[in-house]
Amino acid sequence: MEIKTKTIAIANQKGGVGKTTTAVNLAAALSQRHRTVLVVDLDPQAHATLALGLEKTPGYSLYGVLAGERAIDETIQPTKWNNLNVIPSEVNLAGAELEFSMREDRLEMIRNAVKPVKDAGVFDYIIIDCPPSLGVVMASALAAADSVLIPIQAEFLAMDGLALITNSIERIKTVNPALELGGIVFTMVNMSARLTQDVMNEVREHFGEKVYETTIPRNVRVSEAPSMGTPVVFFDPRSKGAEAYKAFAWEFMAKNPTR
Ligand SMILES: Nc1ncnc2c1ncn2[C@@H]1O[C@H](COP(=O)(O)OP(=O)(O)OP(=O)(O)O)[C@@H](O)[C@H]1O
Ligand SMILES: [Mg+2]
Repeated sequence: MEIKTKTIAIANQKGGVGKTTTAVNLAAALSQRHRTVLVVDLDPQAHATLALGLEKTPGYSLYGVLAGERAIDETIQPTKWNNLNVIPSEVNLAGAELEFSMREDRLEMIRNAVKPVKDAGVFDYIIIDCPPSLGVVMASALAAADSVLIPIQAEFLAMDGLALITNSIERIKTVNPALELGGIVFTMVNMSARLTQDVMNEVREHFGEKVYETTIPRNVRVSEAPSMGTPVVFFDPRSKGAEAYKAFAWEFMAKNPTR
């Protein structure tokens, strides 16, 4: 069957909103659905790499590819689970923001690096976990993506944060006109918090169908899973968090067909 690979950047300039958790568990849940997935860990913290049970491997990140030291195929690592692969992060990426900002091809560099993998049509999804900033790494990831998935928390000033990132998406369209806002997903939801419903209503009113029906509840098993190097959908498949991420992946697949 022919696969039309989709590249999804998971981005939000705000830290700790659930980007990495969403990247890892969306990828894992998709792999359970027999989709082939490549997670690209672009955050020097390497949390996605660790949460998938791998370690930082010096020289084997996208950094090595961008620096021209490595072919991208060499950096793709399988995980313990079928269909689930990762390009790990490493310490070098910490200096990348500054180094990359001086490159003339800074906006195209990730798109060019990933192109051979995308063209090969082996993966259904390339899921890029972005660092929490509006810097050059994130801009370059957006320039490489077909669409952006934004995880947010339903809390005070959520709309302000969304304005920042949607502005970035608009600006990147000058180099990547096909870039879409793929969707917004609420993470770490606590329905008993007073503001939650109000914020959700406001975001849904403004962004309509871009907002995923599925929301991810705050759930302790989700936060325990990374220390086991296992996505929660494998670690505790019956937990509320795992069930939510599986439902989310289902909705995501329907919106992002690849075959
Ligand atoms: N649904 C959830 N329930 C409970 N804890 C969660 C949930 N989602 C994420 N967390 C925890 O919240 C913290 C931040 O999540 P995560 O690392 O995914 O955010 P991030 O946006 O990638 O952060 P950063 O901006 O630093 O990259 C982590 O400790 C994670 O385990
Ligand atoms: Mg992260």
